[in-house]
Amino acid sequence: MTLDRMAPLEPVIGVIGTGYLGTTHAACLAELGYDVVAQDQSPERVARLAAGELPFYEPALAELVRRHTASGRLRFTHDVADLAAVADVHFQCVGTPQAGEGMAADTSQVFAAAEGLAACLERDALIVGKSTVPVGTTEALVAAVTRRAAPGIDVEVAWNPEFLREGHAVDDTLRPDRLVLGVSSAEAEKILRQVYVDVIRDGAAVVVTDPATAELVKVAANAFLATKITFANLMGELCEAAGADVTTLAESIGLDPRIGHQFLGAGLGFGGGCLPKDLRALIARADELGVGHARRLLGVVDEVNESQRTRTVETAVELCGGSVAGVRIAALGAAFKPGTDDVRDSPSLAVAARLRDLGATVTVYDPHANDNARAAEPDLCFAATAQDACRDASLVVLLPEWEELVRLDPGELSAYVAVPRMLDARNALDPQRWQLAGWEHRGFGRSSDRAQPSAGSRVSEMELMQ
Ligand code: UDX
Repeated sequence: MTLDRMAPLEPVIGVIGTGYLGTTHAACLAELGYDVVAQDQSPERVARLAAGELPFYEPALAELVRRHTASGRLRFTHDVADLAAVADVHFQCVGTPQAGEGMAADTSQVFAAAEGLAACLERDALIVGKSTVPVGTTEALVAAVTRRAAPGIDVEVAWNPEFLREGHAVDDTLRPDRLVLGVSSAEAEKILRQVYVDVIRDGAAVVVTDPATAELVKVAANAFLATKITFANLMGELCEAAGADVTTLAESIGLDPRIGHQFLGAGLGFGGGCLPKDLRALIARADELGVGHARRLLGVVDEVNESQRTRTVETAVELCGGSVAGVRIAALGAAFKPGTDDVRDSPSLAVAARLRDLGATVTVYDPHANDNARAAEPDLCFAATAQDACRDASLVVLLPEWEELVRLDPGELSAYVAVPRMLDARNALDPQRWQLAGWEHRGFGRSSDRAQPSAGSRVSEMELMQ
């Protein structure tokens, strides 16, 4: 967008934390024309990033990191004092994992990072939080950084939550639907509008609000998405009991623009580093604030979501005749969703591990997440291709719907398996295609014995009826 600008733009940007969020934000701001210094406490991570090497898989990001470490516009350091020395705006991108006990978010990294920075500052600065935090964090941070900053140094804290999805991180950062600016002063708003000038010009909606609302917008968005998925899964359960089809149901209700099609995919449920822990953190914060209904609704969302993993395992057992002990099973996919190598709270890996615990010999293949999955579950077997994973299997379970896996040819795959039996845990395959190739196909919330028309023709049939 702004690559050919000759001189870097003002202000100089600091980024604290170089996980998915921080690395993407730093590289994208370099792409937008800023000088960016990103800090991480891990010297190994800093060394890899400084060499232009991405420590995780994220399409398009590796190229940006390479380009801007080479151009000098993007630098990495493990010393937060390096940020304090050159940057005026500091984006806070550290993790807020679920605390060891209970459901609340652990915000210790957020406080440690901001206080560490504040202690080094030699001039006024704006700290902009991007991490997902419990509502009220900014207010507490203001007090904490004010205590740590030297007398006469003015530190403002704003919240500008990030909505990027793994697998689409660069595009979501450069072309977001909206920018939510939670600010306490007109000056902070002005600075953030300046930082995002090209993004705003390209069409991002801007919402200017207070920090508390901005904090809550992020958790509310994730909780809503989680609720939508769980609603689809509840409908799937009903469809299964009634002999109806949840994929047609989701397509039909999604045609109502008030509902929309996204996040209505019934199946294995949500996972990853964000949705599950953000949902739980919101329950915990609502409890603290004395808002009881949130626990009831969101608690059920979490519970139903967890039960989808159990249902998948139970269905696998049922398909194998009541026991998977000694059965060879191919687990296609280990990441929590396609497009990432992230296995944090991955429903796919959880299912593979539980089947292994029940005595099955489980061989996993994931296009990008084999290494992370092996590190998390070293007792599983791993294969370098989907075909190898399927060799002699009596059950194949499709977990995340990677395009490579959805495109597998059922006729060709038949030659590898002992029994052509497919558990399609994401309702991602065309049952008819697999059945015609001689496979037993089982999805979620759909009658796999009945021949199903393809997704495309279902929509056209509905269009014709209107
Ligand atoms: C999510 C939010 O989408 C993003 O805005 C926020 O910044 C971080 O959390 P991400 O964790 O990358 O992003 O995953 P997302 O694409 O939202 O998917 C979450 C989970 O929901 C995945 O496990 C996915 O498989 C599952 N999912 C999604 C369903 O089970 N059904 C669906 O219909 C859609």
